[in-house]
Amino acid sequence: MEIRRLSIDEEPPMDLLLLADPSRNIVVEYLKSGECFIAESDNQLVGVYVLLPTRPQTVEIVNIAVVEEHHGKGIGKFLVKNAIKTAKKNGYKTIEIGTGNSSIGQLALYQKCGFRITGVDIDFFVRHYQEEIFENGIQCRDMIRLSQDL
Ligand code: COA
Repeated sequence: MEIRRLSIDEEPPMDLLLLADPSRNIVVEYLKSGECFIAESDNQLVGVYVLLPTRPQTVEIVNIAVVEEHHGKGIGKFLVKNAIKTAKKNGYKTIEIGTGNSSIGQLALYQKCGFRITGVDIDFFVRHYQEEIFENGIQCRDMIRLSQDL
């Protein structure tokens, strides 16, 4: 599998990015100021992540998704680790990520990749998303913030 930065003349994989974030407007905003990386296997798209510089020396993984038929094969973990490596190589000192209180698998994945929980943005998803989101039988209301030093 190869991971590369999407070039300016390539279309971002919108359907895949929308798997991680139901708001097209928010995804478009992130793509304007962030860097989009794609993972390909045999020239087929299998995953994506977007890195967005947020504060001096800090970058955030604002989107990460794996093509559904390839879930559970370790690609998500590989992408998170690659994002950490890329951020470090580019001189950032801190990498952050946020996920919903209902995203149990994602919370496991990020902690397995070294992220620690640093805070909770109460009612983030209620304030920023029009539709109610449910996962694992839990309403997604709060954003769990995670971070790691590089
Ligand atoms: N409890 C414990 N561990 C869990 C878990 C749970 N409920 N659910 C997942 N995990 C672990 C897996 O066991 C694995 O760890 P391991 O390698 O130590 O076994 C790790 O989390 C992730 O597995 P992996 O196969 O690398 O994940 P993936 O390729 O399926 O990708 C996502 C993960 C989240 C990127 C993928 O499911 C996806 O695209 N989801 C839709 C988009 C999305 O939600 N993006 C994130 C928004 S915050």
